[in-house]
Amino acid sequence: MNEIIIAPSVLSMDFSKMQEQTKELNESKAKWLHFDVMDGHFVKNLTFGAYILNGFKKTSDLYMDVHLMMTNPMDYIEDFKNAGANQITIHTESFSNDVSKLSEAIKTIHDMGMDAGLTLKPSTAIEPFECLLTEIETFLVMSVEPGFGGQSFMEDQLQKVQWLKKKREEKGLSYRIEIDGGINDKTAIKAIESGCDTLVAGSYVFKNGIKQSIEGLLK
Ligand code: DX5
Ligand code: ZN
Repeated sequence: MNEIIIAPSVLSMDFSKMQEQTKELNESKAKWLHFDVMDGHFVKNLTFGAYILNGFKKTSDLYMDVHLMMTNPMDYIEDFKNAGANQITIHTESFSNDVSKLSEAIKTIHDMGMDAGLTLKPSTAIEPFECLLTEIETFLVMSVEPGFGGQSFMEDQLQKVQWLKKKREEKGLSYRIEIDGGINDKTAIKAIESGCDTLVAGSYVFKNGIKQSIEGLLK
């Protein structure tokens, strides 16, 4: 069983207080920082590129978990590597859900010395990607439609978490099961009970006091 990890999403950070909030994150029980990179095309929202990650890398030793919500993610992974990314998570839909293209992308991420994560939109079925479970370090289940923080938790996505937990046991694998979207003190319990060990939380963490909200999610 993997240790339960909280990965605050900097999407919800108050960037007028970036230095202060990064210090609080460093002093909190968070182990990862989650970066929601959006290109304004794969999803309607436009957020930040590798350049911002660089700033965080200079002020935090937390594991940099980069979630690429992009149409052409592979065009940018070298920039993220150079900016200090530890993990790159790609969407199956960015590769038209093509397993061989996804496998090639995962290999490229590994060849650059980063961990590889896979994720998919709530409306995309997970079963077709079973053969890739041996190739990744993390599977990220989206519990909201990608694009914006502060949305409501989609409980039906927990079926994917239960499937991932079952497959991990059957195959003797150890990938992390991460969940992203609508995580708060109540939905975190349901997510962990279903098999999640890595929780992304944006609005809940930055709206309720960084340190205490992260501790609350770990209870
Ligand atoms: C959606 C984003 C959000 C974000 C977390 O594309 O990925 O899920 O990380 O947002 P909250 O925790 O505010 O729902
Ligand atoms: Zn995310």
